[in-house]
Amino acid sequence: MKYYSIIIVLALMSCSHSKVSTNKDTVEERFIDSILATMSIDDKIGQTNLRGTSSRAKTLSEELKEDVRQGKVGALLNVMKVEFVDELQKIAVEESPNKIPLIFGRDVIHGFKTIFPIPLGLAASWDTDIAKSSSRIAAIEASSVGIRWTFAPMLDIARDSRWGRIAESPGEDTYLASVLGKAYIQGFQGDSLNNPTSIAACAKHYIGYGAVEGGRDYNTTVIPEPLLRNVYLPPFQSALDVGAATVMTSFNEINGIPATGNEFLLKHVLRDELKFDGFVVSDWDSVIEMIAHGYAKDEKQAGELAANAGMDMEMTSKAYEHHLKDLIKEDKVKERQLDEFVKNILRIKLRLGLFEKPYRDKNNEANFYKEAHLAEAKEAAIKSAVLLKNKRILPLSSATKVALIGPLANAPLDQMGTWTFDGEKEHTVTPLKAFKEAQVNFKYVEALTHSRDRSKEQFQKAVDGVKDSDVIVFVAGEEAILSGEAHSRATIDLPGAQEDLIKVLSKTGKPIVLVIMAGRPITITNIIDNVDAVLMSWHPGTMGGVALQEIIYGLREPEGRLPVSWPKKAGQLPYFYNHKSTGRPANKEDYVAMYDIPVGAWQSSLGNDSHYLDIGYTPHFPFGFGLGYTAFKYDDLQISKDTIGFNETLLVKASITNVGERPGKEIVQLYTQDVVGSITRPVRELKGFQHINLNVGETKEVTFKVFPRQLEFTNHKGIRATEEGDFNIWVSSDATSGLKGTFYLKKECQ
Ligand code: BGC
Repeated sequence: MKYYSIIIVLALMSCSHSKVSTNKDTVEERFIDSILATMSIDDKIGQTNLRGTSSRAKTLSEELKEDVRQGKVGALLNVMKVEFVDELQKIAVEESPNKIPLIFGRDVIHGFKTIFPIPLGLAASWDTDIAKSSSRIAAIEASSVGIRWTFAPMLDIARDSRWGRIAESPGEDTYLASVLGKAYIQGFQGDSLNNPTSIAACAKHYIGYGAVEGGRDYNTTVIPEPLLRNVYLPPFQSALDVGAATVMTSFNEINGIPATGNEFLLKHVLRDELKFDGFVVSDWDSVIEMIAHGYAKDEKQAGELAANAGMDMEMTSKAYEHHLKDLIKEDKVKERQLDEFVKNILRIKLRLGLFEKPYRDKNNEANFYKEAHLAEAKEAAIKSAVLLKNKRILPLSSATKVALIGPLANAPLDQMGTWTFDGEKEHTVTPLKAFKEAQVNFKYVEALTHSRDRSKEQFQKAVDGVKDSDVIVFVAGEEAILSGEAHSRATIDLPGAQEDLIKVLSKTGKPIVLVIMAGRPITITNIIDNVDAVLMSWHPGTMGGVALQEIIYGLREPEGRLPVSWPKKAGQLPYFYNHKSTGRPANKEDYVAMYDIPVGAWQSSLGNDSHYLDIGYTPHFPFGFGLGYTAFKYDDLQISKDTIGFNETLLVKASITNVGERPGKEIVQLYTQDVVGSITRPVRELKGFQHINLNVGETKEVTFKVFPRQLEFTNHKGIRATEEGDFNIWVSSDATSGLKGTFYLKKECQ
């Protein structure tokens, strides 16, 4: 440690920012070079090794300690006992050849101990403040046990709800994902990476992982460059703009080349264009999975391809550890490439302050489940809840006699959602617990034991149980294990006997409030007419039950809006609001429904446009949709000019009035459409949104600024530009409605 301490202070002064620095001749770079100069090839390869361990390990293996001692490990994943973290770090900084500290990483995805709603749920908040505060809290809790690196946020645009990892995604929209991604990174990394409560973020999965064929996890993707640049890349660009320290490659191949061995994506786009100067980590074994992809013939070639593509740190597999030295000797990989990897890795270790303070901060111990953390988790669950239907049943009055039923009404583990390794179900407040604590007038009726329960044995008991109630609150959904990695589904309806039970209960004539806890939108066309209200709470996390109790009884209103189009049927997927028009756009007038076609009809292209005969062409609920407990009226769209030049700003105004009976919150959305382009353009694209609060009868004028720069896109020739022409513009409450205006963007004014 002594060796480093003289120059560390100077180096840290030059890098306490988390923003990307491109200046190579800084104190920071000189410090890194000075370490590099003392390292052998083996030491350098050691830095590229992210060793996976089991968080359940009871003892620290001698083999791992020895590897750390010999400098064979650069970072560790899933070391979750603080004693192990301390011991391994001590070995690294006192006994390893170059005394370089380790980074300890963990999937801290939507909370560490205090669990927030799943990322898709948090995306429904459309709220960058809560995104930031949730990841700040996660960082504070995780760093207290020595974790200084999270594999989050996931920035994969997800347009297919069959894909299990949609739960971890920011949804289907590029703009929303970009603003939320930025906020997550600011929360994880704090004001400065070298604050002991900051953890390095990892923008993942680079790239296109959400575009997997058929929503099947790990699958192939085909993403033409304009689509890559217009839809999938911007969230990563935003993440790097705020200094995301690391980037993870994705499992999928893109246009025939696995992301982990993709030189174009890693060197050309990420380094040369986006000026990323942190380090790239592969996903779990994704280096050697290039063999199964049919891209590398063996482990050695996989290592060669990943190294030459510019992939810095290898997660869990050992292609670099086993072969990089030989590959360098054989001149198949240049040593200067390895040097680049090491520099990228050391740069982040330095920015994390690990050379100066390698050990976890004991003052930051046991920051779990603090009152303020729980309060923020409740707030997040309220902001994420999306009310999809309400036949004037919600909110319930305190006098209502409620029958609380359903497999997710008291499922503390499942309520936390996917990828919550450190959350403890004992801390989860389920709806049952929250209803009890709030002492509301209710009885709990047990029927299905879990979401996949197919038994109808308790149906009669359930019917008898709800008889003396006024309203049934049915908490349905999916167990946490049914979404997340590797958990794609071909049908996305309520599993088990849930639909059957809802139909049976609806025959009692009691109004049903359907609350859904799930990792994805669930198709509910079969039961939508059997229920009076539908409230989507996603998997809402530790405080989900409290949030739901407050929403159901009207202490708060559900504030979320859909971050993803809600399909009628899985067969409609992938579905997304910002699709292209087609040459025969679907429309009401031409739509022909399957059962309207005369039997024996003459063969013809009836309807003649892009729709499904059986379910039409619209989603069940559009992107951006969500009800509150009041109603809003949109009026008086004003567009500052009919024509603007490329250097001008357009002002778009609309008046929003609360025409309902209680104060409420609205998320006002701005969409544009570039009517004619050098390549076809989406029918709408989200360009901004604002949260407003309105009292009963109150009107607010909302103003959006539109900069021509926001309208640019990359075309088939690789040209990124804003093009002259007509634009449509909407101010609306979702992606399919709203006040529509137009303007013309004129080049001459440039
Ligand atoms: C996932 C990553 C995750 C990694 C480490 C992989 O299976 O795809 O998102 O960060 O495991 O746990």
